[in-house]
Amino acid sequence: MELDLRTVMRHFATGVGVVSTWTETPGGPDGRRHDAITVNSLVPVSFDPPLVSLSLRHGSAFLTDLLASGRWGVSILAADGAETARRLAGSRESRTEALGALTAVPGPHTGALLFDGPGWMECALADSFTVGDHLMVIGTVLATGVRAAQDPLVFLHGALTPATGP
Ligand SMILES: Cc1cc2nc3c(=O)[nH]c(=O)nc-3n(C[C@H](O)[C@H](O)[C@H](O)COP(=O)(O)O)c2cc1C
Repeated sequence: MELDLRTVMRHFATGVGVVSTWTETPGGPDGRRHDAITVNSLVPVSFDPPLVSLSLRHGSAFLTDLLASGRWGVSILAADGAETARRLAGSRESRTEALGALTAVPGPHTGALLFDGPGWMECALADSFTVGDHLMVIGTVLATGVRAAQDPLVFLHGALTPATGP
């Protein structure tokens, strides 16, 4: 039997979020160069203490920055966030360009950028371990926020799909 994990996982619907972090860059507007990527690997793994996990590809430039800062923001995207998700899933150069045009505010606890959407959190690195070709990153949740409920953005069948609520 052929083992094709990618194909079978296409049938597993996930939410979509943006993870953001930064590197210290002397001379920049706030002394930081920000970066953000689209993810669908966000999982709550513990509520007491509050911990979440992300699975990030080994070799990712974003992952290098996240491990160096030890801090990140997560923004849950709403149905109208497909364009944001697409723009933040490209190369670092295209992400930097996209960040210049997107509305985002620095999180109060980390300074990591938070984007429009129904909810956000800020995290600090608690643990990490290699799982195959990815690094599983565990974050302590420092702060959370919710805004007005909105229909979610869903990743299913390889597509970013606006979902409608009941
Ligand atoms: C819907 C969607 C979900 C994604 N989820 C993840 C993820 O969970 N982990 C990951 O490492 N990359 C994920 N990516 C890819 C990243 O957005 C990004 O392209 C990549 O990490 C950039 O690598 P770089 O830092 O080397 O430029 C996802 C892309 C899309 C479109």
